Amino acid sequence: MLGSGLLCAGLVLTGCSSGSGSDRPELKVDGAFMPQPVSDMAAAFLTVSNTGGADKLTSVTSTLSDDVTIHESKDQRMRKVSGFDIPAKGRLDLERGGNHIMLMGLKKQPKDGERISLRLHFEKSDPIKVELPVKPPTYNPAKH
Ligand code: CU
Repeated sequence: MLGSGLLCAGLVLTGCSSGSGSDRPELKVDGAFMPQPVSDMAAAFLTVSNTGGADKLTSVTSTLSDDVTIHESKDQRMRKVSGFDIPAKGRLDLERGGNHIMLMGLKKQPKDGERISLRLHFEKSDPIKVELPVKPPTYNPAKH
């Protein structure tokens, strides 16, 4: 990792003035997919990796649904949460059986092979637009 202090020196105008430039999150999204929905509800999964300071996923929006929430799964039940922490130099995994993005009241049901888009909103970072491929309903990649 080349020093983020150096990088920060060039970014003074974009908010590194506090001298805590190394706290700036550096997020990257990959492995995103949506299993083909079998009703008017869908789930979406992805990984956010972070090479910078801590951030938080606070909400998700989509043109596919006006009701997108983020859920955690515990003891076979899911529960809406207000955000997911993205640790500094760590990652947030949304994966089957665990934390996920939930879309209710789909305006249309996308099919295997189509793509949908989501916009991820964070506490600190600018929103990230993600294109997700729609996969077969039982698709479950091994991530680790
Ligand atoms: Cu859910």
